[in-house]
Amino acid sequence: VTPKLVNVGIVGATGAVGQELLGLLAERRFPVNELRLFASPTSEGRKLSALGAEHTVRAAGPEGFEGLELVFFSAGSGTSLRLAPHAIEAGARVVDNSSAFRMNEGVPLVIPEINGDALGPETTIAAVPNCSAIMLLMGIAPLRRLGRIRRVIVSTYQAASGAGARAMQELLDQTAAALEGRELKPSALPHPIAFNLFCHDSPIGEDGRNDEERKMEEESRKILGDPELSVTATCIRVPVLRAHSESACVEFDRAVSEQDARQALSSAAGVVVVDDRKANRFPMPIDAAGKDEVLVGRIRGDMYNDKALNLLISGDQLRKGAALNSIQIAEALLRFPRAGGGQ
Ligand SMILES: NC(=O)c1ccc[n+]([C@@H]2O[C@H](COP(=O)([O-])OP(=O)(O)OC[C@H]3O[C@@H](n4cnc5c(N)ncnc54)[C@H](OP(=O)(O)O)[C@@H]3O)[C@@H](O)[C@H]2O)c1
Repeated sequence: VTPKLVNVGIVGATGAVGQELLGLLAERRFPVNELRLFASPTSEGRKLSALGAEHTVRAAGPEGFEGLELVFFSAGSGTSLRLAPHAIEAGARVVDNSSAFRMNEGVPLVIPEINGDALGPETTIAAVPNCSAIMLLMGIAPLRRLGRIRRVIVSTYQAASGAGARAMQELLDQTAAALEGRELKPSALPHPIAFNLFCHDSPIGEDGRNDEERKMEEESRKILGDPELSVTATCIRVPVLRAHSESACVEFDRAVSEQDARQALSSAAGVVVVDDRKANRFPMPIDAAGKDEVLVGRIRGDMYNDKALNLLISGDQLRKGAALNSIQIAEALLRFPRAGGGQ
């Protein structure tokens, strides 16, 4: 059966996630009819090649969505809040990469391998979870068959690309400058990123958590459908170009075994176990970069608690943490005609 072709828009097409989305549309043969690319007014008129053709970037505005059936938003939460309602009004479904609607009741927050059933014909807007939350949950959700997860303590090692295309370039430029003995002042990131690491560059609330840590905690509860789950996260930016890593201690409501965990992870969709103790080969961002799968390893019991397991996770947050997860959601939505007419 030839799939129905869809008119697709991307808001934020010039960004790190937008570029990845364009590549994935081609790679996954997404059934695109018209492709309309949007960014900020600074990029208006810029040419981008995608799906074998050259496209002119438009400045995103409320009037640009007429005739579109699906719009990916990847331009920050301010832009999503301002423009997503116009896209929906124009008859499109929205897949949003920002945090604008994630915690709204009635907005599915979806990792298709875990809670794809939250999508349905009535879905007009679906939210892509925070990239660090996606990596964590890809690594721990398959373990729910061992027992109920009660508590997670997680530390992240987050790539510069998580802060966008400019931060990625800043890591490259600063590293070159440092090697030549020059100093380069940070601009996209708050502190020097070359040969350094620092607490995640999101605002810190009164309770001491930064926004990234809060998102990992709240979104994990929503996605796993468990308001009792406690998650303590410490989010750190490291001088890695691409792919986030996370070290997690996961506590269950009963004793669990390393063998059962390895088995559950080995058969989980979207996960590859990398756990070679002899060769000291475990998940590394350099192996995860550019891959669809999330790597999980260093699976080990906890010497002091037989209900806990420890893990190391690495995954490309531009792909599974953003663009790939968005496209998987869009592919799932294509299976449901939009309720109440429209597409
Ligand atoms: N990077 C990641 O790993 C990651 C992971 C998950 C989710 N996200 C989310 O995805 C979104 C994009 O992130 P990114 O890393 O791709 O950022 P980025 O590389 O900085 O790109 C930002 C994009 O948004 C566009 N934009 C900025 N202001 C705009 C406006 N007022 N109207 C329309 N477009 C505007 C930019 O256009 P110009 O080029 O014209 O400035 C650019 O296309 C953010 O919401 C981010 O939180 C990112």
